[in-house]
Amino acid sequence: MLQRQTPLSIDWIGDVDGYLDLIDQTRLPERLEYRTCHTSDEVWQAIRQLAVRGAPAIGIAAAYGVILAARDFAGGSERWRPELARALEYFASSRPTAVNLFWALDRLRARADRLPASASADDLRRELLDEARRIHQEDREICREIGRCGAELLADGDGVITHCNTGGLATAEFGTALAAILTAADQGKQLHVFVTETRPLLQGARLTAWELMQHDIPATLICDSAAAQVMKEGRVRSVWVGADRIAANGDVANKIGTYALALLARAHDLPLYVAAPASTFDLSLRSGDEIPIEQRAAEEVAEGFGRRTAPEGVSVYNPAFDVTPAQLIEGIVTEWGVVRPVETAGIRRVLSPAQENRKLSQ
Ligand code: MRU
Repeated sequence: MLQRQTPLSIDWIGDVDGYLDLIDQTRLPERLEYRTCHTSDEVWQAIRQLAVRGAPAIGIAAAYGVILAARDFAGGSERWRPELARALEYFASSRPTAVNLFWALDRLRARADRLPASASADDLRRELLDEARRIHQEDREICREIGRCGAELLADGDGVITHCNTGGLATAEFGTALAAILTAADQGKQLHVFVTETRPLLQGARLTAWELMQHDIPATLICDSAAAQVMKEGRVRSVWVGADRIAANGDVANKIGTYALALLARAHDLPLYVAAPASTFDLSLRSGDEIPIEQRAAEEVAEGFGRRTAPEGVSVYNPAFDVTPAQLIEGIVTEWGVVRPVETAGIRRVLSPAQENRKLSQ
């Protein structure tokens, strides 16, 4: 079980009248700074600007953001119910792809729905804070479980490639794919991690390289376009990524560039593992074609390094995510076990305890 020291990516300070502290991921690696959010708008902006990012972290931050919105609610349920619906809708508009966001908002909605008509706005605030704290705490435990399941797939001496950031910054603690790597390292396995830069916003270079260095895990930064060469040179045994949304057939939406890595892994006969909590599955979607893909600003590509790197006026296409077909994925590591082979029936089998648990807690 992981017992490492790591700074808290998300921290709710105080009680119902408290506030949210987030590690400002836009400042790393130069500065480890917290961004304090006293209003729901500040949380919404932090999500939109990627100050807090990574599918599970977005869900947790939004849940706390709703509590900040609820601070202004007053009166009885006939008044706060429509206000709550507006706050949930507001956060749902922050980023479209990571389903953990909508999952967390649904949990708050369900909790509020169970309150009697006589419940006051104060009652609602207490319930919402309790639910947000549960989501946060559960994610800590889930990351440890994913780490435990994933570490079994890593062997002493393995080189691995990882993409984007799937560490403690992207979750409540320790991460998903990175938790597997950290757990394997704690078991005494010597690993070497090749970290892709992850253009355009460099989550790999800025965040994953920083996290691995904090944990003393040997790591080498590569350009995204160096991955094929690293594979060809025989330096890696597997590829490890996270996910933002997984359809019922196992197609995975993750940071742009994941699909390319998956194709390269297949060409070099290397397994690709996706690590994600049950809350990242969206069983209402039959395939990855139905996953909404976030389109982001042209400046992220044309001025990503703080100065213009492309001619003024050039047309830019900047999808933040791509979809990797299930057939290219060797296994999906969840807190409930590994889905392998990746297909609808296997997903339903592995996730069935998660669905049972959800029913019991409702
Ligand atoms: O745009 P981002 O940085 O939020 O994208 C994040 C990713 O794609 C991660 O790989 C994913 O959310 C998994 S986080 C454990």
